[in-house]
Amino acid sequence: MPYTLDQFASDCRSILKGNPGPAGREEVRTRLERLLSEKAFVDEYCGPQAPRGLKVLYEDPELGFQILAHINDKARVSPPHDHGASWAIYGQATHYTDMTEWEREDDGRNPAKAKLKPVKKYRLTPGRAGIYQDGTIHSIDYPDSARFIRVTGTNLDKIRRVRFDLATGDVHQMTPQQAT
Ligand SMILES: [Fe+2]
Repeated sequence: MPYTLDQFASDCRSILKGNPGPAGREEVRTRLERLLSEKAFVDEYCGPQAPRGLKVLYEDPELGFQILAHINDKARVSPPHDHGASWAIYGQATHYTDMTEWEREDDGRNPAKAKLKPVKKYRLTPGRAGIYQDGTIHSIDYPDSARFIRVTGTNLDKIRRVRFDLATGDVHQMTPQQAT
């Protein structure tokens, strides 16, 4: 039986209702990989005709999680950033995304400055999904035409989050939709 966006959204809802913690998200990650193995889903939402940019495919009215399609034309390297208190799952549809997790090397006492070191790097290829758990500082790097589906614990526009300038060490408050 084909696995659809509606079925995925409904699975996310029941899984996260029962277990909103890391184990529940890991289950959502494996379901996202299943969804991305469906050619019909990838063709419809991430195919050549899909509208460019960021599209909210589903937002849960009760739990607040979102399923988003990122339909990119141009390559991009994001600065390291966090998602505030939210987690995020990235699932690759086309091409690839290089995922990096960072840790702070400073004591975090100065809110305006930070020193980061990379602690984990991996590449998502089509059909694979990865998780950044609560508050993990991360960055993404993808080539032209890379497309992916992202599930976030909440609407990121509504929460405080920061990005880091690696060259200067400056910590910046992020504006809505500024980075992924
Ligand atoms: Fe992100």
